[in-house]
Amino acid sequence: MTQFRAAVILAAGLGTRMKSELPKCLHPVGGRPMLEWSIDLARNVGAERIVTVYGPKSQQIGAFGEQSGTLTALQDPPLGTGHAVQSAQSAMDGFDGNVIVLYGDTPLITAATVEKVFTALEAGASVAVLGFTPDDPAAYGRLIVKDGVLERIVEFKDASDEECAIGFVNSGVLAAPASLLFELLGEVTNDNANGEYYLTDVVGLARKRGLKAVAVEGDAAEVLGVNSRGDLAEAEASFQARRRAELMADGVTMTAPETVFLAHDTAIERDVVIEPNVVFGPDVSVKSGARIQAFSHLEGCIVQGGAVIGPYARLRPGADIGENARIGNFVEVKKAVFGAGAKANHLSYIGDATVGAKANIGAGTITCNYDGFGKHQTHIGEGAFVGSNSSLVAPVRIGNGAYTGSGGVVTEDVPDDALALGRVKQVNKEGWAARFRAAMSKRRSES
Ligand code: UD1
Ligand code: MG
Repeated sequence: MTQFRAAVILAAGLGTRMKSELPKCLHPVGGRPMLEWSIDLARNVGAERIVTVYGPKSQQIGAFGEQSGTLTALQDPPLGTGHAVQSAQSAMDGFDGNVIVLYGDTPLITAATVEKVFTALEAGASVAVLGFTPDDPAAYGRLIVKDGVLERIVEFKDASDEECAIGFVNSGVLAAPASLLFELLGEVTNDNANGEYYLTDVVGLARKRGLKAVAVEGDAAEVLGVNSRGDLAEAEASFQARRRAELMADGVTMTAPETVFLAHDTAIERDVVIEPNVVFGPDVSVKSGARIQAFSHLEGCIVQGGAVIGPYARLRPGADIGENARIGNFVEVKKAVFGAGAKANHLSYIGDATVGAKANIGAGTITCNYDGFGKHQTHIGEGAFVGSNSSLVAPVRIGNGAYTGSGGVVTEDVPDDALALGRVKQVNKEGWAARFRAAMSKRRSES
């Protein structure tokens, strides 16, 4: 039977190896802070109460936890992982279910893995720990398992040579019923090599009471904890590889997946083709049948089916590209809606605008949307034809089916089906060039 669930997320460590002004857990992976990954994970496994534990030197973490709708607990001063969980005790007051301890610096753990840990508790264990077998067990805590029972966790610094030889190690993730967890934590001492209150000691304490503890095996790549910029890059690479594989499995074509960069929420439907070297920032949705050509950059936008973007296009927040529309090379679109079949094929900036269905925007068109103080709207009607190298000075409206002559500066609204000419009339001076050349050659020969 599924029981009530809660999560305590530890994030009070200093993260000094990041060498950063930004607290470690707020560094992003896949375009969102690592701490948010853990909060999201807790929500995805049904945690009804989530507590973020932060330290005196990372007030920003506390603020982030609060903004994200979690409870927060200050651990001051940080005296170890056991002490960190204890700091969350009052925030857990009245909660009578199973608690899982997660971390603000392990963004890759999946809901399926956490589910396995909770399931072990629900099947009768009193403490469940997520273990893994890395290539190099390094300084991880060693899991001492006998006959399928987890007897103890020994920290690397406290371990004998024999214990160090064990390859099955502690990820840090641990779950237990809340009341038992806080009771056992009350018995933990700091009598160890680090002088810290270890969360891991609750396993041995549970066993002393004759309670069952188990270790669930997880994937080493998932439990990677980020301590340095190198680890951060590794976590990013891992996230990217996983998300690309998921999208391809869902029917997205990527000709060179290793060159496509995705965000945590990139939504791409089946039969979309993504060419090489495309970057997705957060909040992008690409509908079935669209094509994103090479070297394009997209964020905060929607691309409808049949649309073709790029190569070398930039879609910024608020770009909404309609079915079969076309955004070509060196075109930047921001807060603009393109109707079905509308086209801006070359070298343009279209911002704060609406572009009607089947309108055609000539090369080099610029919406002059900003006057140094405010942003203004440009409306381009259905089937309108904007001549190349036009400056559309907003606010301005170009009617349905209207034409604007190329090189125009359009400052006034253009009625439906009209032609607007906003440029200086051309004057041809017959013979002028020949006369000029003759005069100049004469001057040169006389000097
Ligand atoms: C811990 C485990 C170890 C495990 C390893 C996995 C303990 C005693 N040891 O060791 O068995 O193999 O994680 O990475 O738990 N934190 C606080 N407050 C504190 C101390 C730590 O919030 O007072 C947080 C840190 O921000 C960090 C996490 O807890 O995210 C782990 O702390 P860390 O000191 O790195 O523990 P390890 O020595 O790596
Ligand atoms: Mg660590």
